[in-house]
Amino acid sequence: MAKVTGIKVKGIGSYVPEAIATNEDFAKIVDTSDEWITQRTGIKTRHITNGEPNYYLGARAAEKAIADAGIEPTDIDLIIVATCTPDFYTPSEACLIQREIGAIGSMAMDINCACTGFDYGVDMAKRYLQSDDDVHTVLLIAAEELSKFVDYTDRSSCILFGDGAAAFVLQKQENALYASYLGADGNGAKFLAARALKSENVFRTNKEEFDMDMPELKDYFFTQDGKEVYKFATKALPNAVLKACEKAGISPEELDAIVPHQANVRIIETAAKNLGVSMDKMVVYIDRYGNTSSASIPMAFCDAVAEGRIKRGDKICLVGFGGGLTYAAVVFEY
Ligand code: UT7
Repeated sequence: MAKVTGIKVKGIGSYVPEAIATNEDFAKIVDTSDEWITQRTGIKTRHITNGEPNYYLGARAAEKAIADAGIEPTDIDLIIVATCTPDFYTPSEACLIQREIGAIGSMAMDINCACTGFDYGVDMAKRYLQSDDDVHTVLLIAAEELSKFVDYTDRSSCILFGDGAAAFVLQKQENALYASYLGADGNGAKFLAARALKSENVFRTNKEEFDMDMPELKDYFFTQDGKEVYKFATKALPNAVLKACEKAGISPEELDAIVPHQANVRIIETAAKNLGVSMDKMVVYIDRYGNTSSASIPMAFCDAVAEGRIKRGDKICLVGFGGGLTYAAVVFEY
């Protein structure tokens, strides 16, 4: 097992909005059923915002992680927020959360790697902690308000998504188990998309649409080719775990827990089979929260810790896949 400069998870916390939408609630608005959603996805309920903005969710999760770490907001040197559903183009979600929690003065930035954002964020945090003498404490947050861009007339996607946030306080740890495997395949960009504003500047004379090789999108709503993403995910997820484990010098069986992106329980079951590990190793809370994009992995991690399924010293792999298409796995000791 390779020991390197890695991360110490000082504190964790998660937050979901109070309002819950059940499968029965969806059966009232689109042609679907609890049976179909449960069998095809594993989802039962999701939490949905009722007016609270995305940064509010992130700030509440961050406050819990800070309290759990036993630090002050002013101890934070860098805030990284993974999100693909920010409240504004500018300021960043990180600046809004910084203001909300009183961590003024820290560096603050957002990253958008869709559902893989938390893994990318852990790796980015690790690199700052390792190489920047001014960075001793990183607050990494994943906050998503997917209900904002869900098309609630599209039964194939609206039933999947929920809102939520989770945060880790990270510091440097010498002689630690740590490895990461991150990547992307932009050829799959068109399979998961939500459009930002189109250019309508006053000087524009060319009224033709530029061919971006992306699907026709309804306003700014989210759309996906579920089958293509499913095919990609069932390969990318086990492959990322294997590659990260290989770099860490351990086998997947030696992991105490694998915390995968919570998109579809069938994807997770297929990945477990391909990896040759039992489902007991896979942390799955998709029934409670649905798919919360980048927040799904740390939210599941927090629930697993709260329920005693993940303990201090456990060898963990966080593994994500999603829009981009992106994929990533990080291995570390909790
Ligand atoms: O984090 C983002 C990453 N996204 C993902 O990981 C999504 C990956 N993909 C999936 O999870 C699955 O492809 C879905 C859950 C999106 C769809 O499941 P599926 O088993 O691939 O269903 P399907 O698209 O093959 O559709 C099967 C049938 C179709 O009807 P016909 O054509 O067989 O008559 C659909 O119209 O199920 C129908 N269907 C539904 N029926 C009831 C699609 N959505 C629904 C629904 N309720 N909500």
